[in-house]
Amino acid sequence: MTTRGMSRSLRTRLIVAFAAVSLPVLLLFAGGALLYARTVYLGLRQQTVREELVANIRTHVQLTGSLEGLRPQEPPPEERGQPPTAPSRGRVEPPPLIVLDPQFRVAVAATGHPQGLLIPVADRGNLTAVTLNARPVAYLLSTGTPPRPDAQTTAFVRRTAGLLLLAVSLATGISVLLGAWFSHRLLAPLRTLQGGVRALTTTGQAAPLPEGQPDELGELLRAFNGMSAELERRRISSRQFSADIAHDLSTPLTVMRGTLEAMKDGTLPATPERLSRLQTQTDHMIQLSGDLRLLSMADAGDLTLKLRTVNITELLSDVEETFFEVARDGGVILGVNAPPDLHAQLDPLRVTQILHNLVQNALNHTPRGGLITVAAGLHGVAQLRITVADSGPGIPPEQLERVFDRLYRGDDARSVPGSGLGLSIARTLAEAHGGTLTLESVPGNGTTAVLTVPLNS
Ligand SMILES: Nc1ncnc2c1ncn2[C@@H]1O[C@H](COP(=O)(O)OP(=O)(O)OP(=O)(O)O)[C@@H](O)[C@H]1O
Ligand SMILES: [Mg+2]
Repeated sequence: MTTRGMSRSLRTRLIVAFAAVSLPVLLLFAGGALLYARTVYLGLRQQTVREELVANIRTHVQLTGSLEGLRPQEPPPEERGQPPTAPSRGRVEPPPLIVLDPQFRVAVAATGHPQGLLIPVADRGNLTAVTLNARPVAYLLSTGTPPRPDAQTTAFVRRTAGLLLLAVSLATGISVLLGAWFSHRLLAPLRTLQGGVRALTTTGQAAPLPEGQPDELGELLRAFNGMSAELERRRISSRQFSADIAHDLSTPLTVMRGTLEAMKDGTLPATPERLSRLQTQTDHMIQLSGDLRLLSMADAGDLTLKLRTVNITELLSDVEETFFEVARDGGVILGVNAPPDLHAQLDPLRVTQILHNLVQNALNHTPRGGLITVAAGLHGVAQLRITVADSGPGIPPEQLERVFDRLYRGDDARSVPGSGLGLSIARTLAEAHGGTLTLESVPGNGTTAVLTVPLNS
């Protein structure tokens, strides 16, 4: 499904959800309102019927002096505009009101109440007296039969139901329109994101997207902006990396070719010093290509470690031995400090490579009379921590965040050979062990490299 199609169907679903939520509520309210209106209207109608009946009785008695000949108060159902009602549960219901004479006998025959029937005292609780000149001329007996809707009531209910149906349809229409508007607004950030993703896919670049509201979708846009900025940073740094590598390879190779050509021509004698310099440069190139290979293997996830249990004290002693003479020649004291029985499971060659890098860096930056300490210990219960601390000039904060970048070299490092890959390789190897490598430095107060590796990598 295309993203456009997806957003459209999401919009449809939102609109349907709006309508689905509002329609039952509206119908419930409309039903309740209809029932209430019907009850109120029926009550009012009954009141009117009762009042008409009372007035009828009074007029009749005034004119004839008795209740005799009084018309039944309820017209038959056909007259009320309704089909004759089916008797409920086989029983014919009496009308709601029965007219009694002052002696409590039925004056007008009705269903179940033949004329002249004497209403027993026990059933006279629901009587209303109809008086004329303060004298009861009749009684109205409420039978408890629920009032039946007459033609007017039915018409009123129909009209009200029609109006309510219209209102419900209108309200549903409005809720669908509101749903369309809300979903349009709600999905706006997704459309923006869609544009950003499309731009990133086609051009490899995306301008920062407006982040909008501080809600979940705004968060998504911010995350996208962060990701696209990171991609851009990596793109630039990888372009820079390729340019730097090309430069790092071509400059010494050009010099070497020039020297070799001059030696071949005989313009430059092939002295042992010149040959030895050429060899050093060749070694440097071999080292550089080895480093690049290692980094590309790590990038591809092809770096394999040969893990085994290693005595850390011995490993540090080997490092000390390797650099002992160089340190002594540079007038630097190199000290190693590790508890006697410290063991960890790691790749000794790779960890040695990390430590050589760190100690070489420390030696490069520690002046005569300085001190370099390599110390090992436990970090928590499951981590090995090795630090390489020097008493050199330290690293300024703005450089500290760049020293792990590939090919980065500080200005002060130009005097010593190197390619600027040492720390990034060391960190890659530490991470391959599931560990970390960080540098802490206070300018003027030395630098400490901190390597942590799980005891069981
Ligand atoms: N102990 C230290 N004291 C001061 N600066 C340091 C120290 N260690 C590293 N740096 C700075 O970090 C930079 C990067 O170090 P890194 O080891 O990656 O490269 P390099 O030593 O220059 O070259 P190589 O690839 O041979 O290691 C160095 O050029 C230097 O400026
Ligand atoms: Mg280095």
